[in-house]
Amino acid sequence: MSLDNLADFIAAIDAAGELTRIKHPVAARLELCEIADRVMKQPGGGNALIFENVTLDGGGRSEYPVAINLFGSMRRMSLSLGVDNLDDVGKRITQLLDLKVPEGLLGKLSMLPRLLEVGKFPPRIKSGKPACQEIVWRDEEVDLSRLPIITCWPEDGGPYITLPMVISKDPARGIRNVGMYRVQYLGPRTLAMHWQRHKVGAAHWREMAARGERMDVCIAIGADPASVYSASAPLPPTIDEFIFAGFLRRSPVTLTKALTCDLEVPAESEMVIEGYIDPSEPLVVEGPFGDHTGFYSEADLYPQVHVTAVTMRRSPVYATTIVGRPPMEDYYLGHATERIFLPLLKLTIPEVVDYHMPAEGIFHNLVFVSIDKQYPGQAYKVMNAMWGQGLMSLAKVLVILDHDVNVRNVQEAWWIALNNIDPERDVRFSMGPMDVLDHSSRAFTYGSKMGIDATRKWPEEGFTRNWPKLIEMDGATKGRVDAMWTQLGIPAP
Ligand SMILES: Cc1cc2nc3c(=O)[nH]c(=O)nc-3n(C[C@H](O)[C@H](O)[C@H](O)COP(=O)(O)O)c2cc1C
Repeated sequence: MSLDNLADFIAAIDAAGELTRIKHPVAARLELCEIADRVMKQPGGGNALIFENVTLDGGGRSEYPVAINLFGSMRRMSLSLGVDNLDDVGKRITQLLDLKVPEGLLGKLSMLPRLLEVGKFPPRIKSGKPACQEIVWRDEEVDLSRLPIITCWPEDGGPYITLPMVISKDPARGIRNVGMYRVQYLGPRTLAMHWQRHKVGAAHWREMAARGERMDVCIAIGADPASVYSASAPLPPTIDEFIFAGFLRRSPVTLTKALTCDLEVPAESEMVIEGYIDPSEPLVVEGPFGDHTGFYSEADLYPQVHVTAVTMRRSPVYATTIVGRPPMEDYYLGHATERIFLPLLKLTIPEVVDYHMPAEGIFHNLVFVSIDKQYPGQAYKVMNAMWGQGLMSLAKVLVILDHDVNVRNVQEAWWIALNNIDPERDVRFSMGPMDVLDHSSRAFTYGSKMGIDATRKWPEEGFTRNWPKLIEMDGATKGRVDAMWTQLGIPAP
């Protein structure tokens, strides 16, 4: 079933038995977060929730239900991208990257369907009245306080839109970007845009500010799930996230022209907030915000968005998420990125076998990497290459292991790594850019990194002692025990 909008995704989650509807009145301020946090901490990530009766900060009842934790389980994350297993997307990318044109006419013809698949991805522009513009508030009609924008944690600077697709355009090259950047509610027609300095939206804004031009920006909420996920994916600035979403969906995303901005937005969105940033205006205070590190991020200065229109479906659902002490829903979005981007990582660092970013490392703090080591010093070559790749440059601790270690099993990875290292010999420090959210670095977004070479050491690397063998039972004994197992009376765990 193709998931063309949020309603399709919610119906699919419901059919999979992972949806809970909550009728009890719940406040958008803190209560909704506390409930969602408890659910997200359940084994496997808990159910997706729809709050049907949300109390606004002003005391009234929200006209719009709130959906949360839609992506917050392995099953739902896979469902959102139309696969049984997230590695299936990686396999499709590997096939595309492997496109070696075979010999002979028949061979070449057999390639056509795969090549044509690429041509089907670009978004289509819809004419006529799109679903996301069934209701339109313009100028003075705009009142964001009518939306159930949640305040997550007690010391947050205000309510936040937390699951947005922020759409902007590179003014020089015209390439679109879609990023998931939280947006703070400042007033009925103003917002603060938290795109961090390493992100593509921030680069567009710096370019517009340098030109002294007003920047259009659209914030779409709730669309086909592949587009929502793609906003969180660390794609290079040259790739339009809606093309990527089309590839993931195997069907183009339908876009429509925004009413007051020179941008296109997903026609199937639940809601779209249209607006602009004026570079001649001073920045505004954004934050503090209870972040995905599990700590509050400090308030800082970010651009202010003036809202020119809000458009929506006739009966929209407001989609949101919360971040905080891990694991939360964003772990599953990040995990999809980890799996989907493995083939792209291998393209530039071919010795990479696998990698994993565990939930407690909140993506940038800890990355395990297994490699097919073929020469001395290769672990350091991989570390340097990883620190030179896009947002991987923000990784704080890299642990490099041999190919036979299952890095997706964190206990196994640490067990082998801690056995294998002579800390003084195998740990190296480097410097580089740090994630905006890192509160420990010596300066804002600048600090040190640690690389641990936890591979087996070779004589050419100066290691002349014997390297011990892993303990394993022999196959014959295992076979005999397998045969007697059911007669032993040992209960299943
Ligand atoms: C739930 C969630 C919230 C996020 N909030 C922010 C944010 O406020 N600011 C930011 O710069 N990145 C945030 N990110 C990370 C970006 O979405 C991610 O780095 C993405 O690759 C950015 O898109 P870009 O590469 O087009 O800039 C968030 C990610 C998720 C999953």
